[in-house]
Amino acid sequence: MILHLLLILILILTSTSPSSSQNLSPSQSKTLLRLQRLLEYPSSLSSFSSNTPFCYLPPSPSLSISCSSSLLTSLSITGDKPPSLTLSPTFSSDSLFTTLSRLPSLTSLSLVSLGLWGPLPSKLHRLSNLKSLNLTSNHFYGSIPPELSTMTNLQALILRGNSLNGTVPDLRPLSSITDLDLSGNLLGPDFPSLGKTLVSLVLARNHFHSPIPPWLQSLDKLQKLDVSSNRIVGNIPPFLFSLSSIQYLDLSGNGLTGAFPASVACADELGYVDVSNNLLTGGLPLCLRSNSSKIFVLNSGNCFIGGDPKYQHSGSYCNQGALAAVLPPVEKKSGSKSQLGLILGIVGGIIGGAVVVSLLLFVALRRMKQETFAYDGKLLKKSDPGLPSIQVAPRTPAETRHMSQAVRIGTIGLTPYRVFSLEELEEATNDFDPEHLIEEGPQGKFYKGWHRDGSTIMVRCIKLKQKYSTQSLLQFTETISKLRHRHLVSILGHCVVSGQDNANTTIFLVMEFVSNGTLRSHLTEWRKREMLKWPQRVAAAIGVARGIQFLHTVAVPGIVGNNLAIENILLDETLTAKINNYNLPVLSKNKNNKIGSESPFSTCEGSEFGSVEHGEKEDVYQLGLILLEIITGKPTQSRSELDTLKLQLQKSLAENTAKLKAMTDPTIRGTFAYDSLRTAVEVTLNCLSNEPKERPSIDDVLWNLQYSVQVQDGWASSENLSTQS
Ligand SMILES: *[C@@H]1O[C@H](CO)[C@@H](O)[C@H](O)[C@H]1NC(C)=O
Ligand SMILES: *[C@@H]1O[C@H](CO)[C@@H](O)[C@H](O)[C@H]1NC(C)=O
Ligand SMILES: *[C@@H]1O[C@H](CO)[C@@H](O)[C@H](O)[C@H]1NC(C)=O
Repeated sequence: MILHLLLILILILTSTSPSSSQNLSPSQSKTLLRLQRLLEYPSSLSSFSSNTPFCYLPPSPSLSISCSSSLLTSLSITGDKPPSLTLSPTFSSDSLFTTLSRLPSLTSLSLVSLGLWGPLPSKLHRLSNLKSLNLTSNHFYGSIPPELSTMTNLQALILRGNSLNGTVPDLRPLSSITDLDLSGNLLGPDFPSLGKTLVSLVLARNHFHSPIPPWLQSLDKLQKLDVSSNRIVGNIPPFLFSLSSIQYLDLSGNGLTGAFPASVACADELGYVDVSNNLLTGGLPLCLRSNSSKIFVLNSGNCFIGGDPKYQHSGSYCNQGALAAVLPPVEKKSGSKSQLGLILGIVGGIIGGAVVVSLLLFVALRRMKQETFAYDGKLLKKSDPGLPSIQVAPRTPAETRHMSQAVRIGTIGLTPYRVFSLEELEEATNDFDPEHLIEEGPQGKFYKGWHRDGSTIMVRCIKLKQKYSTQSLLQFTETISKLRHRHLVSILGHCVVSGQDNANTTIFLVMEFVSNGTLRSHLTEWRKREMLKWPQRVAAAIGVARGIQFLHTVAVPGIVGNNLAIENILLDETLTAKINNYNLPVLSKNKNNKIGSESPFSTCEGSEFGSVEHGEKEDVYQLGLILLEIITGKPTQSRSELDTLKLQLQKSLAENTAKLKAMTDPTIRGTFAYDSLRTAVEVTLNCLSNEPKERPSIDDVLWNLQYSVQVQDGWASSENLSTQS
């Protein structure tokens, strides 16, 4: 009996007292020391030496180790590297994982904020016992190795806050996974394929650009879904709100379209929903109309009817945005007919808010992806030699009509267009008093004037150099009368004065007077006015892009080669950007001779650009120059200055966030979300490709700028939340 007790006592003593035999095996101890060296001696590992009792270190936030039978089972190291710093150039992610693979007993590994960089090597999967892998806040880049899907013991995979890109490999084989967080990378465009065991799925802040796949319906354990700040498109999937376990749903900052069906019901446990900053229309389901003790709802930045109008856009914003999101900017000739049919169907569907359309949309996107290189939503890095270059097919008149209808939604209620008399204009300009001459150039003379009704106008005089038939003049003024858009210095009316036989014709165009200075003055005249912050700058750029899109589609052929210098962008009192001095439609010499058509002035002849397509790309290039100045605050005077600036931007984009931030206009630092800036910089560089073919289409530019705004909005609202709490 006594012997028995003694035995128990001995057992208890030996199992609780530290003894060398229970410490880490010498080979694993050595591996830890090697790790310390590979990680370049982070302060969290400062206690490591050859006689450290690794298994008995008290756990701390920066280091925690567990062992079982002299083997390491869990290792968690948290560094204090600021997000912009990486380990030295000699660090090798391959050596790191080779070393780690000598710890096959590990079931939990967490290496956070250590400045780790490089590709994730495929040998990662040798850590096959891992249940939890956490590599948050490092600088891993490249794609996620497909071998990772063989780590079937994984329950938690956290790769948050790195620079991983490309398509996510099929993760369905991860049959135990409950917790997947890939947020804050550059992953996309396809929504990843995942297993049904997930409880928490976080894909926020990536480049996913596809509809939400219907199979998410089968994730009956899913409690948290966060896909915010991506480019998710397609109709809002109502099933998400009634998933059986769902508690937290964040769909904000995407391009989701359409209306909720009337019957949407929220799951019992659903306590947080954010659908803000999408393109949603229609009414709000009962459970998403307001906050309650049960549910916190964010729905601003859509076009909901019945939401707080202060925080909802008008319906045209969502329809237009939906068009921008759906219409492929590029259509190849082959199969374009059937595609156009589909697209028209989609457009109609979005406007009508039909649910069936989500399927169509899905099919259409798939088709576009498969059949034409089309638009996969990534920033189109066309300078990459590996990517197929885009073929721009000339738009058919039908397409153009359709497009212009779409973009014309942006036209605002100006005073109705009318024909003015010469007397009215003489009165308004005091007989064309030289005092009132604002500008004289190849685009004609511009006078400031005051209309009888008290409004200020601008009168542009164009003397035609040769005779045109009455018919072509009529055609010309008919097109002119369409040049009314929120983002153009719009034409209010005209007056044509001709001598005998249409000789010495002068056309007077009566235009809006935009009084708040040029875009450049809002970037430079800091003594005179408040400088534009980042969101206002992107909004101005979007305005310019919309104006260009309108000009390209308002007539056949489109109005291109628009002389888009930053001095020609004017702002009104609400800081709405308006293009001034744009080109005018071509005047055909006589009605039977379409080929011999030309524009009224020597400087804006179509021949200068060779073709409409070339002229479109010229406009995109000039928009790129405007964007460059908006971002850097630096006007570029010469070709070599421009090349240097482009190169610097390219380099800093590739290097790190701090470098890129340092390239921005000091006035805007601290006002932008980094991803918003990065998107704008990427699209700028694409616009400025030397090769016109490599420049994106204007629709493409617009999409990316809208994305940049969405990211910015998401950032701003989260900043607000964090400063409030
Ligand atoms: C991963 O690490 C981050 C940063 O320390 C932490 O916030 C998060 O909870 C960890 N996740 C898991 C599943 O361990
Ligand atoms: C991913 O990033 C790497 C390096 O950062 C780059 O070389 C590669 O082209 C990128 N791939 C994609 C698909 O963007
Ligand atoms: C819920 O409350 C938040 C914070 O007060 C607010 O921003 C949000 O607009 C509210 N949601 C609705 C639907 O009113």
